[in-house]
Amino acid sequence: MGTMLYPRFMDVRTALITGASSGIGAALAEALAQPGVTLHLSGRDGARLEAVAGACRGRGAVAQVAVLDVRDADAMAAWIRGAGRLDLVVANAGISGRSREGGPEDAAKTRAIFAINLDGVLNTVLPTLEAMAAQTPGADGVRGRIVAVASLAAFMAAPDSAAYCASKAAVHGWMIARSPEARARGMLLTSACPGFIRTPMTAGYRFPMPGLMDAGRAARIILRGVARGRLTVVFPWWMGLAARLAGMLPPRLMAAVVMRRIGQSDQGISS
Ligand code: NAI
Repeated sequence: MGTMLYPRFMDVRTALITGASSGIGAALAEALAQPGVTLHLSGRDGARLEAVAGACRGRGAVAQVAVLDVRDADAMAAWIRGAGRLDLVVANAGISGRSREGGPEDAAKTRAIFAINLDGVLNTVLPTLEAMAAQTPGADGVRGRIVAVASLAAFMAAPDSAAYCASKAAVHGWMIARSPEARARGMLLTSACPGFIRTPMTAGYRFPMPGLMDAGRAARIILRGVARGRLTVVFPWWMGLAARLAGMLPPRLMAAVVMRRIGQSDQGISS
């Protein structure tokens, strides 16, 4: 407390965060909260969102909440357009098929994962790009910063989380490829790829999570990277390396490793 959480040269007076009612989103909101800062926070659970907003107000920030589903493109665009000037927008909301309720990525879950993790990010970032392009640049010459929270899962295609990995790969690739054009118009894009973070999402995971870290620490690492203008923030670095190497494994070997981990056999189909 009291120490600078991110370098001063990132001038964030107004920030908008999706999925701010828990985990990384809540930690980002609290890390940004200080006097002079206005936060626009959305999530699906009004009570939890209010609790996070209350903590941010306790740190001196102005916090406004909106109960919104990121899948609702019109509502998201209206919320973003109505927020006024935005220095930082974080498309953070996401789900994984392996969360508490467990089970495989069945058809409904597969569609929900893509709708929230991919369309939800587009529903956040596209209206933001439009809104920020009309903003005057700040003292640092930047019109606005946009972060999408992807994952190290973006680097591999794990058979136990096919939709999750594919949705994160799409977000990560799209943010990187959109960056030069956005940058030329004064907007800085960042794809954040965390490893395992202690949040409600991972609370139900029943396998080893190397490098597991607190959401507060993850939020500070992301904000530091954003302040430095990083296009990607991949952490912990050694998990990033491991994920990239895992992504280079032949698919059948990857499948064998993952299936052994989750205690299933890969003998159903041989091709
Ligand atoms: P979390 O479950 O605590 O937070 C997810 C947030 O997204 C919640 O606030 C939830 O209300 C919101 N959300 C879910 N569906 C929504 C919808 N349809 N509309 C609006 N909001 C919705 O989990 P966590 O871990 O904080 O996840 C945040 C992001 O970080 C996700 O995109 C996740 O994929 C990503 N991530 C998480 C990692 C971890 O180990 N916890 C690792 C890498 C990435």
